[in-house]
Amino acid sequence: MKALILAGGAGTRLRPITHTRAKQLVPVANKPILFYGIEAMVAAGITEIGVIVGDTRAEVMQALGDGTSFGAAFTYIPQEDPLGLAHCVLIAREFLADDDFVMYLGDNLLEQNLAAFVAAFETARASGEPPVAQILLKQVPDPHRFGIATLDSAGNVVELVEKPDDPPSDLALVGVYLFTARIHDAVAGIRPSERGELEITDAIQWLLDQGERVRCELLTGWWIDTGKLTPLLEANRLLLEKIETNIEGSVDQASTIEGRVIVGQGAEIINSTIRGPVAIGAGTRVEDSFIGPFSAVGSRCVVHHSEVEHSVIMDDSSIVDIARLEDSLIGSNALVQRSRQKPRALRLMVGDHCQIDVE
Ligand code: TTP
Repeated sequence: MKALILAGGAGTRLRPITHTRAKQLVPVANKPILFYGIEAMVAAGITEIGVIVGDTRAEVMQALGDGTSFGAAFTYIPQEDPLGLAHCVLIAREFLADDDFVMYLGDNLLEQNLAAFVAAFETARASGEPPVAQILLKQVPDPHRFGIATLDSAGNVVELVEKPDDPPSDLALVGVYLFTARIHDAVAGIRPSERGELEITDAIQWLLDQGERVRCELLTGWWIDTGKLTPLLEANRLLLEKIETNIEGSVDQASTIEGRVIVGQGAEIINSTIRGPVAIGAGTRVEDSFIGPFSAVGSRCVVHHSEVEHSVIMDDSSIVDIARLEDSLIGSNALVQRSRQKPRALRLMVGDHCQIDVE
């Protein structure tokens, strides 16, 4: 079994962060989103991994390396334009050869044991009616935003539709799929959709139309498509829920640590309160401040005389004299500060596609 991880795409919904950064490399709980998927693959025993890369390929390749640090071997497959999820399968043909593979959307995070998902497929493949693909479904409250599956009374997949106006069910396709080599016939057999993309839902529908069996599993744990701000903060919250306390940096006598907190190497907590779950990266200085639950502060940051809660602050950024920063995503090398001379005035340099909410 091989894996294909999709780390190309445009990332328009996370601008401006994605003007300068691959969305799959935005950190949640101080680790890039993409790393969670790769670690899940390796834990499931899949180490031959193809990585689809787009405009941000240099950054993705630098962050991932050749795979050795993950215990895997990566093959990078450049995609000229984000022409769709099925297009990724098409251009990975040589790497995939005729092997079965897991396809994983690099911006998805899920609480699922991938090994069990793969094992269920392999058991079903050995049965009398072997499926050629397996999909993962999750009940969602807003099905018109997703690829949606219809099942028959026996629980078999009968139809898939992409972002339907009138959803036939509330079962959304999660961004993890298992395919046999039969999918290559499907991606060669479909045409681009109205939005000009080769859709993976159309390819799976093509398999169904040929009378092939597509198995499904229902995901009971959480699943987050991190492509937008609110779900990204939600993923950060869910992953911080799982951390264990690990204080490697220094905490002075005047500071209080409550709950589960990570303080990275060389970080300093001075005259501050940290209320977990919170992760603070290496070399970061927190002084005269409060860091509240579900905050992830990257490495080499400064938080001075400020309150931060339920936010992600990326590496090398500073938060100075801010009464309260909440529900926020701050990119790297950013400075957010309040003027001491004019504390009520806003002095901003705001990039394209930013959103600033002032209360
Ligand atoms: P999407 O979130 O569907 O698309 P996108 O990355 O273009 O984002 P946006 O809608 O904000 O512009 O992509 C899911 C994942 O698959 C994501 O990790 C990017 C990746 N992808 C590719 O690698 N190639 C592609 O052609 C597409 C469409 C997505």
